[in-house]
Amino acid sequence: MSTTSEDVLVGVIGGSGLYDLDNLTFVKHVNPETPWGYPSSPITISSLPSGTRIAFLARHGAGHTLSPSAVPSRANIAALKSLGVRAVLAFSAVGSLREEMPPGTFALPTQIIDRTRGVRPASFFDASVVAHAAFGDPFANALVRWLAGPVRRALEDEGRGVKLVTDTCIVCMEGPQFSTRAESIMYRQWGGDLINMSVLPEAKLAREAEISYALIATVTDYDSWRPNSEVVTTAEVFKTLKANAVTSRHVAATILQELHEATLQGNILSEEVGSMQFAIMPRS
Ligand code: ADE
Repeated sequence: MSTTSEDVLVGVIGGSGLYDLDNLTFVKHVNPETPWGYPSSPITISSLPSGTRIAFLARHGAGHTLSPSAVPSRANIAALKSLGVRAVLAFSAVGSLREEMPPGTFALPTQIIDRTRGVRPASFFDASVVAHAAFGDPFANALVRWLAGPVRRALEDEGRGVKLVTDTCIVCMEGPQFSTRAESIMYRQWGGDLINMSVLPEAKLAREAEISYALIATVTDYDSWRPNSEVVTTAEVFKTLKANAVTSRHVAATILQELHEATLQGNILSEEVGSMQFAIMPRS
């Protein structure tokens, strides 16, 4: 892959509580207008000590002004694509549907159950172009597999005992209200391990844009499935949000150089590059 030092290959999307990154030198803000409008916030371009440039976008806006349903995901992904981004590392606060994943756990999901379908605009294609992207593996498998090692090492090196769980299934629900107890129990029966409001349509749009996309899910609460326990509230989510953001910043600061190099070599992009080549239906 031929690149210049101006190219930004890796984009980071920060979720609730994660509005900036550590150990980076600010280069500039960019705010590209896309056919789908402006991104959630201006994108920060920063450099690592090597000079490598990284793009950072706060999903809910710099001052957390956008609810999950109002995030302009098409503009966000199109804006990152316009900068040349090939791999996106997204962070998101999530609820846990499993006893063994308590608040404070970090997870790398490999599957999604979509409970936002039909509510949010989830495709770049419209009536004028018919296209069907493969989405059976909604995250970039090669990237997710690659991330497990560096993320686990970063968590060990931080020394706070944060655990990383792999191969999890995340339910993406429509907010803004949290789930009922009955829904939360049902999601467990469906095979869900985690729940959030933000991974979709972001992951779908990244696939259509041929960007390799992975999510680091950071557990803030136990949702509402546990018998004899309180239901999830915003106050509960906030209890862990700050500590999770500190750890997320540490993980990003530790792995971004390596992630850039792996992206440059192309071996973590294998499934996504060219994946849309035959996705557009020919007109008969
Ligand atoms: N984000 C954080 N915790 C959540 C939960 N329990 N449900 C949905 N989204 C969440």
